[in-house]
Amino acid sequence: MLERRVLEPDPGMIKGLGVHHTMESAVADLIDNSVDAGADRVLVRFDTEGVQPVGLHVADNGRGMDGHQVDEAMRLGRQRDYGARDQGHFGIGLKAASFSHADTITVRTTPAGGERHGRRLRRGDVQRDYSCEVLDPTTLHPEALLSRVGGVTGTIVSWSDTRFPRTGGAGLGNWVEDTRTRLSQHLGLVYHRLIAAGRLRIDIDIYDRDLGRAGIPESVAAVDPLGFAVSAVPGYPRTLVAHVGGDRIPLRCHVVPPKAGGPNYRLYGRDGADFQGFYVYRHDRLLQAGGWNDVVTADRARALARVVLDDFAALAPHVRLNPEKKGIVFSHDLHGAITRAVDEADHRTTFADYLSRTETVLADSRKRQHKRRPMAEPAKGLHEDVRRVIKAEVPLRTEEEPVQIRWDAMAPGRFFELDRETRTIYLNKKYRSVLTGGATGLSDAPLLKTLMFLLTEDHFKGQQWGPRDKDLLEVWDAVLGAAVQAELNYRSTRR
Ligand SMILES: Nc1ncnc2c1ncn2[C@@H]1O[C@H](COP(=O)(O)OP(=O)(O)OP(=O)(O)O)[C@@H](O)[C@H]1O
Ligand SMILES: [Mg+2]
Repeated sequence: MLERRVLEPDPGMIKGLGVHHTMESAVADLIDNSVDAGADRVLVRFDTEGVQPVGLHVADNGRGMDGHQVDEAMRLGRQRDYGARDQGHFGIGLKAASFSHADTITVRTTPAGGERHGRRLRRGDVQRDYSCEVLDPTTLHPEALLSRVGGVTGTIVSWSDTRFPRTGGAGLGNWVEDTRTRLSQHLGLVYHRLIAAGRLRIDIDIYDRDLGRAGIPESVAAVDPLGFAVSAVPGYPRTLVAHVGGDRIPLRCHVVPPKAGGPNYRLYGRDGADFQGFYVYRHDRLLQAGGWNDVVTADRARALARVVLDDFAALAPHVRLNPEKKGIVFSHDLHGAITRAVDEADHRTTFADYLSRTETVLADSRKRQHKRRPMAEPAKGLHEDVRRVIKAEVPLRTEEEPVQIRWDAMAPGRFFELDRETRTIYLNKKYRSVLTGGATGLSDAPLLKTLMFLLTEDHFKGQQWGPRDKDLLEVWDAVLGAAVQAELNYRSTRR
Protein backbone atom coordinates (compact mmCIF):
# COMPACT_ATOMS: atom_id res chain seq x y z
CA MET A 1 0.00 0.00 0.00
CA LEU A 2 1.32 3.43 -0.91
CA GLU A 3 -0.87 5.49 1.35
CA ARG A 4 -4.37 5.64 2.78
CA ARG A 5 -6.80 8.34 1.65
CA VAL A 6 -10.00 9.32 3.40
CA LEU A 7 -12.73 9.77 0.81
CA GLU A 8 -15.62 11.55 2.46
CA PRO A 9 -18.97 10.64 0.98
CA ASP A 10 -20.19 13.13 -1.56
CA PRO A 11 -23.34 14.81 -0.29
CA GLY A 12 -24.78 14.10 -3.75
CA MET A 13 -25.55 10.59 -2.56
CA ILE A 14 -28.66 12.04 -0.92
CA LYS A 15 -30.34 11.88 -4.32
CA GLY A 16 -30.95 8.17 -3.92
CA LEU A 17 -32.44 8.54 -0.48
CA GLY A 18 -35.95 7.25 -0.05
CA VAL A 19 -36.57 6.28 -3.66
CA HIS A 20 -38.10 2.98 -2.58
CA HIS A 21 -40.59 4.59 -0.25
CA THR A 22 -44.27 4.82 -0.97
CA MET A 23 -46.41 7.39 0.79
CA GLU A 24 -47.63 4.66 3.15
CA SER A 25 -44.23 3.24 3.99
CA ALA A 26 -42.81 6.73 4.51
CA VAL A 27 -45.49 7.78 6.97
CA ALA A 28 -45.17 4.45 8.79
CA ASP A 29 -41.45 5.08 9.15
CA LEU A 30 -42.17 8.36 10.93
CA ILE A 31 -44.70 6.66 13.15
CA ASP A 32 -42.10 4.01 14.05
CA ASN A 33 -40.03 6.85 15.50
CA SER A 34 -43.05 8.08 17.44
CA VAL A 35 -43.63 4.62 18.88
CA ASP A 36 -39.94 4.32 19.77
CA ALA A 37 -40.28 7.64 21.59
CA GLY A 38 -43.05 6.15 23.74
CA ALA A 39 -45.96 7.89 22.02
CA ASP A 40 -49.40 6.34 22.27
CA ARG A 41 -51.08 8.98 20.12
CA VAL A 42 -50.19 10.18 16.66
CA LEU A 43 -51.90 12.62 14.33
CA VAL A 44 -51.20 12.52 10.61
CA ARG A 45 -52.33 15.76 9.02
CA PHE A 46 -52.50 16.64 5.34
CA ASP A 47 -52.26 20.35 4.61
CA THR A 48 -54.16 21.59 1.59
CA GLU A 49 -54.64 24.94 -0.08
CA GLY A 50 -58.09 24.52 -1.55
CA VAL A 51 -57.80 21.18 -3.30
CA GLN A 52 -53.98 21.26 -3.59
CA PRO A 53 -52.09 19.05 -1.15
CA VAL A 54 -49.11 21.08 0.04
CA GLY A 55 -47.77 19.48 3.18
CA LEU A 56 -47.96 16.75 5.77
CA HIS A 57 -47.34 16.57 9.52
CA VAL A 58 -46.86 13.68 11.87
CA ALA A 59 -47.35 14.81 15.46
CA ASP A 60 -46.88 12.56 18.48
CA ASN A 61 -47.08 12.71 22.26
CA GLY A 62 -43.78 10.90 22.74
CA ARG A 63 -40.97 12.01 24.99
CA GLY A 64 -39.52 14.55 22.54
CA MET A 65 -35.85 15.34 22.12
CA ASP A 66 -33.38 17.66 23.78
CA GLY A 67 -31.09 19.90 21.75
CA HIS A 68 -28.38 17.32 21.34
CA GLN A 69 -30.79 14.52 20.43
CA VAL A 70 -32.53 16.58 17.79
CA ASP A 71 -29.20 17.42 16.16
CA GLU A 72 -28.36 13.76 16.10
CA ALA A 73 -31.82 12.98 14.75
CA MET A 74 -31.17 15.12 11.68
CA ARG A 75 -27.93 13.32 10.91
CA LEU A 76 -27.84 10.75 8.15
CA GLY A 77 -27.12 7.25 9.32
CA ARG A 78 -26.58 8.21 12.94
CA GLN A 79 -27.29 5.05 14.89
CA ARG A 80 -28.06 5.63 18.52
CA ASP A 81 -28.09 2.91 21.21
CA TYR A 82 -31.35 1.22 20.51
CA GLY A 83 -33.61 -0.29 23.16
CA ALA A 84 -34.51 -3.96 22.80
CA ARG A 85 -38.01 -3.13 21.56
CA ASP A 86 -37.13 -0.24 19.23
CA GLN A 87 -38.09 -0.25 15.56
CA GLY A 88 -35.23 2.11 14.69
CA HIS A 89 -32.18 0.44 13.27
CA PHE A 90 -30.41 2.35 10.51
CA GLY A 91 -30.46 5.98 11.59
CA ILE A 92 -31.90 6.97 8.25
CA GLY A 93 -35.68 6.56 8.42
CA LEU A 94 -36.76 10.10 9.19
CA LYS A 95 -34.64 11.60 6.43
CA ALA A 96 -35.25 8.98 3.75
CA ALA A 97 -39.00 8.84 4.42
CA SER A 98 -39.37 12.60 4.33
CA PHE A 99 -37.15 13.31 1.32
CA SER A 100 -39.07 10.66 -0.59
CA HIS A 101 -42.01 13.09 -0.76
CA ALA A 102 -40.74 16.52 0.22
CA ASP A 103 -37.72 18.77 -0.18
CA THR A 104 -37.95 20.36 3.25
CA ILE A 105 -38.24 18.63 6.62
CA THR A 106 -39.02 20.60 9.75
CA VAL A 107 -38.78 18.98 13.16
CA ARG A 108 -40.25 20.66 16.21
CA THR A 109 -39.86 18.89 19.50
CA THR A 110 -40.66 19.46 23.16
CA PRO A 111 -39.01 17.22 25.75
CA ALA A 112 -39.95 17.12 29.44
CA GLY A 113 -39.25 20.48 31.04
CA GLY A 114 -40.95 22.45 28.29
CA GLU A 115 -38.00 23.77 26.29
CA ARG A 116 -38.52 23.72 22.54
CA HIS A 117 -36.26 22.88 19.65
CA GLY A 118 -36.67 23.29 15.94
CA ARG A 119 -34.52 22.06 13.09
CA ARG A 120 -34.98 22.30 9.35
CA LEU A 121 -33.33 20.16 6.73
CA ARG A 122 -33.49 21.25 3.09
CA ARG A 123 -32.64 18.75 0.44
CA GLY A 124 -30.46 21.28 -1.40
CA ASP A 125 -28.41 22.09 1.71
CA VAL A 126 -27.92 18.46 2.57
CA GLN A 127 -26.76 17.76 -0.97
CA ARG A 128 -24.31 20.66 -0.73
CA ASP A 129 -22.74 20.34 2.72
CA TYR A 130 -25.00 18.31 5.04
CA SER A 131 -25.97 21.49 6.90
CA CYS A 132 -29.10 21.89 8.96
CA GLU A 133 -30.96 25.04 10.13
CA VAL A 134 -31.52 25.69 13.82
CA LEU A 135 -34.85 27.47 14.24
CA ASP A 136 -35.72 30.17 16.75
CA PRO A 137 -37.65 28.40 19.56
CA THR A 138 -40.03 31.35 19.97
CA THR A 139 -41.33 30.94 16.41
CA LEU A 140 -42.21 27.26 16.57
CA HIS A 141 -45.75 27.18 18.02
CA PRO A 142 -46.13 23.43 18.42
CA GLU A 143 -49.07 23.71 20.86
CA ALA A 144 -51.91 23.50 18.35
CA LEU A 145 -50.76 20.18 16.96
CA LEU A 146 -49.49 18.74 20.24
CA SER A 147 -52.81 19.44 21.91
CA ARG A 148 -54.47 17.29 19.23
CA VAL A 149 -52.52 14.30 20.49
CA GLY A 150 -52.89 15.25 24.14
CA GLY A 151 -49.18 15.91 24.32
CA VAL A 152 -47.25 18.00 26.81
CA THR A 153 -44.05 16.54 25.42
CA GLY A 154 -43.87 15.40 21.84
CA THR A 155 -42.51 15.81 18.36
CA ILE A 156 -43.88 17.14 15.09
CA VAL A 157 -42.25 16.20 11.81
CA SER A 158 -43.49 18.33 8.91
CA TRP A 159 -42.99 18.01 5.19
CA SER A 160 -43.10 21.07 2.97
CA ASP A 161 -42.08 21.75 -0.62
CA THR A 162 -43.78 18.45 -1.19
CA ARG A 163 -43.77 16.54 -4.44
CA PHE A 164 -47.41 15.53 -4.16
CA PRO A 165 -49.31 15.60 -7.46
CA ARG A 166 -49.95 19.18 -8.47
CA THR A 167 -52.50 19.10 -11.21
CA GLY A 168 -55.53 21.26 -10.62
CA GLY A 169 -59.18 20.36 -10.69
CA ALA A 170 -61.55 18.06 -8.95
CA GLY A 171 -59.40 14.96 -9.43
CA LEU A 172 -57.01 16.23 -6.84
CA GLY A 173 -59.42 16.48 -3.96
CA ASN A 174 -59.65 12.78 -4.60
CA TRP A 175 -55.89 12.36 -4.37
CA VAL A 176 -55.95 13.51 -0.77
CA GLU A 177 -58.97 11.34 0.00
CA ASP A 178 -57.57 8.31 -1.82
CA THR A 179 -54.22 8.72 -0.12
CA ARG A 180 -55.88 9.06 3.24
CA THR A 181 -57.81 5.83 2.61
CA ARG A 182 -54.73 3.90 1.50
CA LEU A 183 -52.74 5.27 4.39
CA SER A 184 -55.41 4.32 6.86
CA GLN A 185 -55.55 0.76 5.50
CA HIS A 186 -51.78 0.44 5.62
CA LEU A 187 -51.35 1.87 9.12
CA GLY A 188 -54.31 -0.14 10.39
CA LEU A 189 -52.59 -3.28 9.13
CA VAL A 190 -49.02 -2.49 10.15
CA TYR A 191 -49.92 -1.42 13.69
CA HIS A 192 -52.99 -3.60 14.20
CA ARG A 193 -51.65 -5.25 17.31
CA LEU A 194 -50.73 -1.96 18.98
CA ILE A 195 -54.03 -0.34 18.02
CA ALA A 196 -56.12 -3.29 19.17
CA ALA A 197 -54.24 -3.40 22.48
CA GLY A 198 -54.93 0.30 23.06
CA ARG A 199 -51.20 1.05 22.94
CA LEU A 200 -51.47 3.32 19.92
CA ARG A 201 -54.11 5.55 18.43
CA ILE A 202 -53.56 7.15 15.05
CA ASP A 203 -55.83 9.89 13.71
CA ILE A 204 -55.72 11.33 10.23
CA ASP A 205 -57.16 14.70 9.30
CA ILE A 206 -57.01 17.26 6.54
CA TYR A 207 -56.26 20.89 7.27
CA ASP A 208 -57.37 23.49 4.75
CA ARG A 209 -54.98 26.42 5.02
CA ASP A 210 -57.27 28.69 3.02
CA LEU A 211 -60.04 28.17 5.54
CA GLY A 212 -57.66 27.83 8.47
CA ARG A 213 -59.62 24.81 9.58
CA ALA A 214 -59.17 21.06 9.98
CA GLY A 215 -61.78 18.51 8.94
CA ILE A 216 -63.01 15.84 11.30
CA PRO A 217 -60.18 13.45 12.20
CA GLU A 218 -60.64 9.78 11.42
CA SER A 219 -59.14 7.17 13.68
CA VAL A 220 -57.26 4.37 12.01
CA ALA A 221 -59.00 1.04 12.67
CA ALA A 222 -56.99 -2.12 13.31
CA VAL A 223 -56.97 -4.58 10.40
CA ASP A 224 -55.91 -7.98 11.70
CA PRO A 225 -54.86 -10.20 8.78
CA LEU A 226 -55.38 -13.23 11.01
CA GLY A 227 -58.50 -11.91 12.66
CA PHE A 228 -60.94 -14.62 11.66
CA ALA A 229 -63.55 -16.41 13.66
CA VAL A 230 -62.43 -19.79 14.94
CA SER A 231 -60.67 -21.67 12.22
CA ALA A 232 -62.87 -23.80 10.03
CA VAL A 233 -60.17 -26.44 9.97
CA PRO A 234 -59.65 -28.72 12.97
CA GLY A 235 -56.13 -28.64 14.31
CA TYR A 236 -55.36 -25.18 12.95
CA PRO A 237 -53.78 -22.78 13.57
CA ARG A 238 -50.86 -24.93 14.62
CA THR A 239 -47.24 -24.15 15.36
CA LEU A 240 -44.42 -25.73 13.38
CA VAL A 241 -40.87 -25.08 14.50
CA ALA A 242 -37.92 -24.34 12.24
CA HIS A 243 -34.43 -24.91 13.65
CA VAL A 244 -31.60 -22.92 12.22
CA GLY A 245 -28.14 -22.26 13.63
CA GLY A 246 -29.22 -23.04 17.19
CA ASP A 247 -32.28 -20.78 16.95
CA ARG A 248 -35.77 -22.10 17.36
CA ILE A 249 -38.21 -20.25 15.11
CA PRO A 250 -41.92 -20.87 15.63
CA LEU A 251 -44.17 -20.65 12.57
CA ARG A 252 -47.79 -20.13 13.49
CA CYS A 253 -49.60 -21.68 10.53
CA HIS A 254 -53.14 -20.46 9.89
CA VAL A 255 -55.74 -21.65 7.46
CA VAL A 256 -57.99 -18.73 6.58
CA PRO A 257 -61.63 -19.85 6.64
CA PRO A 258 -62.63 -20.23 2.99
CA LYS A 259 -65.71 -18.07 3.44
CA ALA A 260 -63.67 -15.14 4.74
CA GLY A 261 -64.22 -12.22 2.44
CA GLY A 262 -64.03 -9.21 4.73
CA PRO A 263 -61.36 -6.55 5.15
CA ASN A 264 -59.13 -8.90 7.18
CA TYR A 265 -58.85 -11.13 4.14
CA ARG A 266 -59.05 -8.60 1.31
CA LEU A 267 -56.26 -6.35 2.53
CA TYR A 268 -56.18 -2.93 0.88
CA GLY A 269 -59.44 -3.94 -0.79
CA ARG A 270 -57.52 -6.36 -3.01
CA ASP A 271 -57.95 -10.09 -3.52
CA GLY A 272 -56.91 -11.88 -0.33
CA ALA A 273 -55.14 -14.56 -2.39
CA ASP A 274 -52.45 -11.95 -3.10
CA PHE A 275 -51.63 -11.92 0.60
CA GLN A 276 -50.81 -15.57 1.20
CA GLY A 277 -47.49 -16.25 2.87
CA PHE A 278 -45.47 -14.99 5.79
CA TYR A 279 -46.56 -12.32 8.26
CA VAL A 280 -43.46 -11.13 10.02
CA TYR A 281 -43.73 -9.02 13.16
CA ARG A 282 -41.11 -7.14 15.06
CA HIS A 283 -42.23 -6.10 18.52
CA ASP A 284 -45.84 -6.31 17.35
CA ARG A 285 -45.24 -4.12 14.30
CA LEU A 286 -46.01 -5.91 11.03
CA LEU A 287 -42.97 -5.82 8.77
CA GLN A 288 -44.26 -8.02 5.99
CA ALA A 289 -47.84 -8.81 4.97
CA GLY A 290 -47.71 -12.01 2.97
CA GLY A 291 -45.26 -13.23 0.36
CA TRP A 292 -43.27 -16.45 0.46
CA ASN A 293 -39.73 -15.03 0.40
CA ASP A 294 -38.73 -17.67 -2.18
CA VAL A 295 -39.44 -20.52 0.25
CA VAL A 296 -42.29 -21.70 -1.96
CA THR A 297 -44.07 -20.08 -4.87
CA ALA A 298 -47.28 -18.12 -4.68
CA ASP A 299 -50.20 -20.06 -6.05
CA ARG A 300 -53.91 -19.33 -6.09
CA ALA A 301 -54.41 -22.80 -4.63
CA ARG A 302 -52.62 -21.56 -1.51
CA ALA A 303 -54.84 -18.53 -1.06
CA LEU A 304 -55.76 -19.57 2.46
CA ALA A 305 -52.22 -19.99 3.80
CA ARG A 306 -50.99 -17.32 6.21
CA VAL A 307 -48.02 -17.98 8.48
CA VAL A 308 -47.07 -15.75 11.40
CA LEU A 309 -43.45 -15.30 12.45
CA ASP A 310 -43.36 -13.06 15.46
CA ASP A 311 -40.31 -14.07 17.44
CA PHE A 312 -38.08 -11.47 15.85
CA ALA A 313 -35.22 -12.01 18.27
CA ALA A 314 -34.85 -15.59 17.03
CA LEU A 315 -35.39 -14.58 13.43
CA ALA A 316 -33.07 -11.56 13.31
CA PRO A 317 -29.77 -13.40 12.70
CA HIS A 318 -31.28 -15.10 9.67
CA VAL A 319 -32.93 -12.22 7.84
CA ARG A 320 -31.96 -8.93 6.28
CA LEU A 321 -34.20 -5.91 6.68
CA ASN A 322 -34.33 -3.22 4.08
CA PRO A 323 -34.20 0.36 5.34
CA GLU A 324 -37.78 1.08 4.30
CA LYS A 325 -38.87 -1.77 6.60
CA LYS A 326 -40.93 -3.10 3.74
CA GLY A 327 -40.36 -6.81 3.59
CA ILE A 328 -37.28 -8.73 4.44
CA VAL A 329 -34.87 -11.21 2.88
CA PHE A 330 -34.50 -14.72 4.33
CA SER A 331 -31.11 -16.40 4.49
CA HIS A 332 -30.50 -19.57 2.56
CA ASP A 333 -30.36 -21.56 5.81
CA LEU A 334 -33.69 -20.19 6.94
CA HIS A 335 -35.29 -21.33 3.66
CA GLY A 336 -34.12 -24.87 4.32
CA ALA A 337 -35.14 -24.77 7.97
CA ILE A 338 -38.68 -23.69 7.10
CA THR A 339 -39.14 -26.45 4.56
CA ARG A 340 -37.99 -28.92 7.23
CA ALA A 341 -40.11 -27.41 10.03
CA VAL A 342 -42.27 -29.90 11.96
CA ASP A 343 -45.05 -29.66 14.53
CA GLU A 344 -43.42 -30.45 17.87
CA ALA A 345 -46.71 -31.66 19.30
CA ASP A 346 -47.15 -34.61 16.92
CA HIS A 347 -43.59 -34.79 15.49
CA ARG A 348 -45.20 -35.40 12.12
CA THR A 349 -46.93 -32.48 10.47
CA THR A 350 -44.52 -30.74 8.10
CA PHE A 351 -44.64 -27.44 6.31
CA ALA A 352 -45.55 -29.26 3.10
CA ASP A 353 -48.42 -31.01 4.94
CA TYR A 354 -49.69 -27.65 6.09
CA LEU A 355 -49.60 -26.18 2.61
CA SER A 356 -51.40 -29.11 1.07
CA ARG A 357 -53.99 -28.92 3.85
CA THR A 358 -54.75 -25.31 2.92
CA GLU A 359 -55.06 -26.41 -0.70
CA THR A 360 -57.57 -29.16 0.04
CA VAL A 361 -59.62 -26.87 2.27
CA LEU A 362 -59.87 -24.40 -0.60
CA ALA A 363 -60.62 -27.08 -3.19
CA ASP A 364 -63.36 -28.61 -1.00
CA SER A 365 -64.98 -25.28 -0.43
CA ARG A 366 -64.99 -24.66 -4.18
CA LYS A 367 -66.77 -27.96 -4.73
CA ARG A 368 -69.34 -26.94 -2.19
CA GLN A 369 -69.68 -23.61 -3.90
CA HIS A 370 -70.72 -25.31 -7.10
CA LYS A 371 -73.79 -26.52 -5.30
CA ARG A 372 -74.82 -22.88 -4.88
CA ARG A 373 -77.70 -21.90 -7.09
CA PRO A 374 -76.25 -20.30 -10.24
CA MET A 375 -76.95 -16.65 -10.98
CA ALA A 376 -77.21 -14.61 -14.14
CA GLU A 377 -73.90 -13.07 -15.12
CA PRO A 378 -73.83 -9.37 -14.24
CA ALA A 379 -72.71 -7.06 -17.03
CA LYS A 380 -72.49 -3.31 -17.64
CA GLY A 381 -74.00 -1.01 -15.06
CA LEU A 382 -73.05 -3.00 -12.01
CA HIS A 383 -69.88 -1.83 -10.29
CA GLU A 384 -66.87 -3.96 -11.19
CA ASP A 385 -66.02 -4.67 -7.55
CA VAL A 386 -69.50 -6.13 -7.11
CA ARG A 387 -69.20 -8.12 -10.33
CA ARG A 388 -65.89 -9.53 -9.15
CA VAL A 389 -67.32 -10.69 -5.84
CA ILE A 390 -70.37 -12.26 -7.50
CA LYS A 391 -68.11 -14.16 -9.89
CA ALA A 392 -65.88 -15.32 -7.04
CA GLU A 393 -68.77 -16.40 -4.83
CA VAL A 394 -71.36 -18.05 -7.07
CA PRO A 395 -71.45 -20.07 -10.25
CA LEU A 396 -72.91 -18.17 -13.21
CA ARG A 397 -75.48 -19.20 -15.77
CA THR A 398 -72.99 -18.75 -18.55
CA GLU A 399 -75.27 -20.51 -21.03
CA GLU A 400 -77.35 -17.31 -20.98
CA GLU A 401 -76.48 -13.81 -22.06
CA PRO A 402 -75.37 -11.53 -19.20
CA VAL A 403 -77.75 -9.05 -17.60
CA GLN A 404 -77.09 -5.31 -17.57
CA ILE A 405 -78.55 -2.44 -15.59
CA ARG A 406 -79.36 0.99 -17.03
CA TRP A 407 -81.27 4.12 -16.26
CA ASP A 408 -83.99 5.06 -18.73
CA ALA A 409 -86.95 7.36 -19.06
CA MET A 410 -90.11 5.65 -17.84
CA ALA A 411 -93.74 6.36 -17.26
CA PRO A 412 -94.10 8.38 -14.07
CA GLY A 413 -94.73 6.27 -11.01
CA ARG A 414 -92.72 3.33 -12.28
CA PHE A 415 -89.52 2.38 -10.55
CA PHE A 416 -88.10 -0.36 -12.74
CA GLU A 417 -88.74 -2.55 -15.74
CA LEU A 418 -87.19 -5.78 -16.92
CA ASP A 419 -86.56 -6.33 -20.61
CA ARG A 420 -85.98 -9.98 -21.38
CA GLU A 421 -85.14 -9.28 -25.03
CA THR A 422 -82.21 -7.00 -24.31
CA ARG A 423 -81.60 -8.64 -20.91
CA THR A 424 -81.66 -5.33 -19.15
CA ILE A 425 -82.90 -4.11 -15.79
CA TYR A 426 -84.09 -0.55 -16.39
CA LEU A 427 -84.33 1.90 -13.51
CA ASN A 428 -86.36 5.09 -13.77
CA LYS A 429 -83.96 7.88 -14.74
CA LYS A 430 -86.12 10.38 -12.90
CA TYR A 431 -84.69 9.14 -9.60
CA ARG A 432 -81.12 8.90 -10.74
CA SER A 433 -79.66 12.11 -9.36
CA VAL A 434 -81.39 11.70 -6.01
CA LEU A 435 -80.27 8.12 -5.56
CA THR A 436 -76.69 8.75 -6.64
CA GLY A 437 -76.33 12.06 -4.85
CA GLY A 438 -75.50 13.63 -8.23
CA ALA A 439 -72.25 11.77 -8.92
CA THR A 440 -73.34 9.71 -11.91
CA GLY A 441 -71.40 7.26 -14.03
CA LEU A 442 -71.77 3.91 -15.72
CA SER A 443 -71.54 2.01 -12.45
CA ASP A 444 -73.19 4.55 -10.17
CA ALA A 445 -75.58 3.66 -7.34
CA PRO A 446 -73.78 0.37 -6.68
CA LEU A 447 -75.83 -0.57 -3.63
CA LEU A 448 -79.19 0.03 -5.27
CA LYS A 449 -78.17 -1.71 -8.48
CA THR A 450 -76.80 -4.68 -6.60
CA LEU A 451 -80.03 -5.07 -4.66
CA MET A 452 -82.05 -4.82 -7.87
CA PHE A 453 -79.82 -7.38 -9.51
CA LEU A 454 -80.14 -9.84 -6.63
CA LEU A 455 -83.89 -9.33 -6.53
CA THR A 456 -84.60 -9.79 -10.22
CA GLU A 457 -81.82 -11.84 -11.80
CA ASP A 458 -83.81 -15.04 -11.47
CA HIS A 459 -86.43 -13.60 -13.81
CA PHE A 460 -84.01 -13.67 -16.71
CA LYS A 461 -83.89 -17.45 -16.55
CA GLY A 462 -85.79 -19.87 -18.74
CA GLN A 463 -88.72 -19.35 -21.06
CA GLN A 464 -91.71 -17.05 -20.85
CA TRP A 465 -92.96 -15.40 -17.72
CA GLY A 466 -96.07 -16.95 -16.32
CA PRO A 467 -98.88 -14.88 -14.75
CA ARG A 468 -97.34 -15.32 -11.32
CA ASP A 469 -94.01 -13.85 -12.44
CA LYS A 470 -95.74 -10.88 -14.00
CA ASP A 471 -97.78 -10.33 -10.89
CA LEU A 472 -94.72 -10.47 -8.67
CA LEU A 473 -92.93 -7.89 -10.82
CA GLU A 474 -95.94 -5.61 -10.56
CA VAL A 475 -95.96 -5.96 -6.80
CA TRP A 476 -92.26 -5.11 -6.58
CA ASP A 477 -92.67 -2.10 -8.81
CA ALA A 478 -95.56 -0.77 -6.74
CA VAL A 479 -93.72 -1.32 -3.46
CA LEU A 480 -90.45 0.16 -4.69
CA GLY A 481 -92.33 3.10 -6.20
CA ALA A 482 -93.78 3.84 -2.76
CA ALA A 483 -90.34 3.41 -1.19
CA VAL A 484 -88.63 5.83 -3.54
CA GLN A 485 -91.38 8.39 -2.96
CA ALA A 486 -90.89 8.06 0.81
CA GLU A 487 -87.14 8.39 0.27
CA LEU A 488 -87.60 11.62 -1.70
CA ASN A 489 -89.82 13.10 0.99
CA TYR A 490 -87.43 12.06 3.70
CA ARG A 491 -84.47 13.62 1.92
CA SER A 492 -86.24 16.90 1.18
CA THR A 493 -87.36 17.39 4.79
CA ARG A 494 -83.82 16.62 6.02
CA ARG A 495 -82.41 19.58 4.10
N1 LIG B 1 -40.86 11.42 16.74
C1 LIG B 1 -39.69 11.33 17.39
N2 LIG B 1 -39.61 11.47 18.73
C2 LIG B 1 -38.44 11.37 19.39
N3 LIG B 1 -37.25 11.12 18.77
C3 LIG B 1 -37.26 10.97 17.43
C4 LIG B 1 -38.47 11.07 16.68
N4 LIG B 1 -38.15 10.90 15.37
C5 LIG B 1 -36.83 10.70 15.32
N5 LIG B 1 -36.29 10.73 16.55
C6 LIG B 1 -34.86 10.54 16.88
O1 LIG B 1 -34.15 10.69 15.68
C7 LIG B 1 -33.34 9.57 15.44
C8 LIG B 1 -33.20 9.35 13.96
O2 LIG B 1 -34.42 8.88 13.41
P1 LIG B 1 -34.39 8.03 12.08
O3 LIG B 1 -35.75 7.55 11.81
O4 LIG B 1 -33.73 8.82 11.02
O5 LIG B 1 -33.44 6.81 12.43
P2 LIG B 1 -33.70 5.61 13.44
O6 LIG B 1 -35.11 5.59 13.87
O7 LIG B 1 -32.67 5.70 14.49
O8 LIG B 1 -33.38 4.35 12.52
P3 LIG B 1 -34.20 3.86 11.20
O9 LIG B 1 -33.42 4.31 10.02
O10 LIG B 1 -34.22 2.39 11.30
O11 LIG B 1 -35.54 4.49 11.26
C9 LIG B 1 -34.01 8.45 16.19
O12 LIG B 1 -33.09 7.44 16.54
C10 LIG B 1 -34.57 9.16 17.41
O13 LIG B 1 -33.56 9.29 18.38
MG1 LIG C 1 -36.68 5.63 12.46
